[in-house]
Amino acid sequence: MRIVTARELQDWLEHGTVLEKDSRGPKVVMLQNGLILKIFHTRRHPWLARITPPAKRFAQNAATLKKLGIAAPAIIETLWLDQCKGLSACTYQPLPGKSLETLLREQPTEIDNLIPELAAFIFRLHRQGIYFRSLHLGNVLLLPEGGFGLIDFLDLIKKRRRLNDWEAKRNLGHLRRYLQRRKISGFPIDKLIDSYSATARSC
Ligand SMILES: Nc1ncnc2c1ncn2[C@@H]1O[C@H](COP(=O)(O)OP(=O)(O)O)[C@@H](O)[C@H]1O
Ligand SMILES: [Mg+2]
Repeated sequence: MRIVTARELQDWLEHGTVLEKDSRGPKVVMLQNGLILKIFHTRRHPWLARITPPAKRFAQNAATLKKLGIAAPAIIETLWLDQCKGLSACTYQPLPGKSLETLLREQPTEIDNLIPELAAFIFRLHRQGIYFRSLHLGNVLLLPEGGFGLIDFLDLIKKRRRLNDWEAKRNLGHLRRYLQRRKISGFPIDKLIDSYSATARSC
């Protein structure tokens, strides 16, 4: 992992566009060169973050997805922003596409048409042993050429076997709870779950 100097980071933040931030500061920044900088603030003890830096896990997860043929951003670098504090980051090439959250806002009927394809995509993730805890509308992109891709997959788990029914149900439950929490009523979650079950039955 490359150590980023304070000056370089300052330069990135000064000339980039902050896409997401929280109380701890910027989280996702579009850099002037078109790459995305994703900063991993951690609630874990700094020494734990130093042993298994989130940026490394994120890059490994990107490699796992790539190996399985699932579209994900291409990682350019893994970085230390502050090694003492365990603050790490990645730069990556943005994945072209539109998040399902944006799509739902802009073209809700389009989402409805996509449900069978989305259910098949999630089923495929589960069959390949991928448990994506952050499965929600902001983290799944509809690709320009069709099909879906994932972003924000730090907490992805790759199992050696396909997910069992209980795990699959729990994963879809994350999506349902996310919709409830965010008070998103326009997403056809029941249709998605029915469609998922139909796909599972036909395989
Ligand atoms: N690889 C990417 N391609 C395109 N847009 C991205 C990418 N990564 C992040 N973004 C944009 O930044 C937003 C937040 O990124 P994300 O990684 O989901 O961070 P957060 O932890 O804040 O949810 C996304 O909703 C999307 O608009
Ligand atoms: Mg996200």
